[in-house]
Amino acid sequence: MPGRFTFTMIKPGAVRNEFIGPILAMINEKKFHIAAMKYIWLTQKEAREFYSVHKGKPFYESLVEFMTSGPVVAAILEKENAVEDYRKLIGATNPIEAEEGTIRRLFAESLEKNAVHGSDSDENAINECNFFFSKYERFPMEDLK
Ligand code: CMP
Repeated sequence: MPGRFTFTMIKPGAVRNEFIGPILAMINEKKFHIAAMKYIWLTQKEAREFYSVHKGKPFYESLVEFMTSGPVVAAILEKENAVEDYRKLIGATNPIEAEEGTIRRLFAESLEKNAVHGSDSDENAINECNFFFSKYERFPMEDLK
């Protein structure tokens, strides 16, 4: 059964362009619950570790540099089928391949500066949520009832 949680980051470029509000509005419109959220400036160490699966790839150093160039909004999003539904909402990694109306099509500048990150599997979603948030920083829907 697909999981109820995914992890997202609004990247520094989208933050600089004042797209935090519009992106969060689209997330709300699609009925994702924001279960956790923080506004932080990643250290080199954090960015390197978060993207360690890409270590050694030609874009790794520049990705780390970009991801540490300003603050990001990190969040845990909750919804049935969260990973897949959020990937539909954000569109393809490369904004020129992203469908009309998706977050990346609307707000990304390039493949590297692609506005948002979204987990690509339930397993990665769990790891990425744990990377940023302790259990005390999470407020899933059932705790709000
Ligand atoms: P993200 O979903 O954050 O996961 C890894 C990131 O690496 C990806 O979004 C892109 O921003 C970036 N990326 C992936 N492939 C490339 C590439 N070929 N060139 C530059 N950046 C890339």
